[in-house]
Amino acid sequence: MQICVIGTGYVGLVTGVCMADLGNNVTCVDIDKAKIDGLKKGVVPIYEPGLKDLLKRNKKRLKFTTSIKDGISKAAIVFIAVGTPPTKTGEADLTYIKSVAKTIGKNMNGYKIIVDKSTVPVGVGDLVESIIEDNSKGKYDFDVASCPEFLREGSAIYDFMNPDRVVIGAKRKEAAQKIAEIFKPLNTKIIISDIRSAELIKHASNTFLAMKISFINEIANICERVGADVEVVANGMGLDKRIGKLFLNAGAGFGGSCFPKDVEALRSMARNEDYEPLILNAVMDVNKQQRKIVINKIKQMLGTIEGRQIGILGLAFKPNTDDIREAVSVDIIRALLDKGCRIKAFDPVAAKRVKKIFSQVQYVKDEYAAAENAECLVVLTEWNEFKEMDLKKIKKAMKKPGIVDARNIYDPKKIKKLGFEYAGIGRN
Ligand code: UGA
Repeated sequence: MQICVIGTGYVGLVTGVCMADLGNNVTCVDIDKAKIDGLKKGVVPIYEPGLKDLLKRNKKRLKFTTSIKDGISKAAIVFIAVGTPPTKTGEADLTYIKSVAKTIGKNMNGYKIIVDKSTVPVGVGDLVESIIEDNSKGKYDFDVASCPEFLREGSAIYDFMNPDRVVIGAKRKEAAQKIAEIFKPLNTKIIISDIRSAELIKHASNTFLAMKISFINEIANICERVGADVEVVANGMGLDKRIGKLFLNAGAGFGGSCFPKDVEALRSMARNEDYEPLILNAVMDVNKQQRKIVINKIKQMLGTIEGRQIGILGLAFKPNTDDIREAVSVDIIRALLDKGCRIKAFDPVAAKRVKKIFSQVQYVKDEYAAAENAECLVVLTEWNEFKEMDLKKIKKAMKKPGIVDARNIYDPKKIKKLGFEYAGIGRN
């Protein structure tokens, strides 16, 4: 199939490359010329395991261009995968979607299916349809569809190739079935629905997962007060199939470019319809509170926080990515710097991004260098290498051996036995 993907961010690039791997000819479009020039040479602008190799392997079926006109000219299906960042009031900013729809409309040259892959508020399918209709002056027949993406950063290729389901919303069943052909090789459940339901499935899914995280964080906070261990509680709850054990890891709260933005966007959607979304409010409140709890744990461990030497392990919003959008690390570092702390931070891939925000932090080469002279070591991202590090060596390097494990990666008993003071989340 001839496919065009507009937008080469996380979703667009992974989707484009993976669809090429399924045997389609894919043209990826982006307005960022430097990015497109790089992609033509095989330079992948994001850190995503396996993506570079997959791109290389499929280079015959992949084209990169900055021209939407060229990109869509031969395409039967056009995916829109541009950003929908939050506005100051929490709503999704639709500027890019609208501008892309306009350009598609102006450059239509025959029947096409336009599929929205970006996470968008309910109703954007209709909006895209009317923009294309206006700008193509009704000259060509087309369908608009919604096919939300559920991939996670850091395991994006695996998620694309092994989805739990594919959701396709369209007015005409034939259009949905045509899109479904792309995903047939994945051998998964394909849900065909109306466009609005498909759009809401994405927000409802992300918000539910965010709610699971805030829920377990709330339970963790209760655990600390009643003398229970959240790891044990989560395991006991998660084995109930109705609950499920995934996304029940208590910690410093969720970050990233999706959960915070999507919960906010769904809140705005509800409020615009005069409905106050009580659960969504609580999901965000607990998430904000969780960051403060981490700071309090550092304070408790040190007595006073002012002017202390702190080591930070992990800057990315989660492991296997260099993405720091809405990362817990940024808020924690800001709070510590405000208190005059000196910070040595290490992350396997994300340091260069945080460096652009905080130049006063010392970015070091490994976890041992971050521990050097530290009075407290704070784990903010659960990279595997932190789980495996030599704790005896860490202890030797530190001025005072104390770990605030904001991702619960260590066994409290073992770590205390080694002589560390330890504070996890929700662990008595
Ligand atoms: C999320 C969804 O999981 C994807 O299905 C969705 O496609 C994507 O958003 C999107 O809308 O584009 P992502 O943001 O890449 O994916 O990352 P997750 O693995 O979901 O983690 C999000 C945050 O939750 C991270 O900060 C992580 O540390 C935190 N988290 C996750 C927890 O604190 N506890 C958990 O048990 C799980």
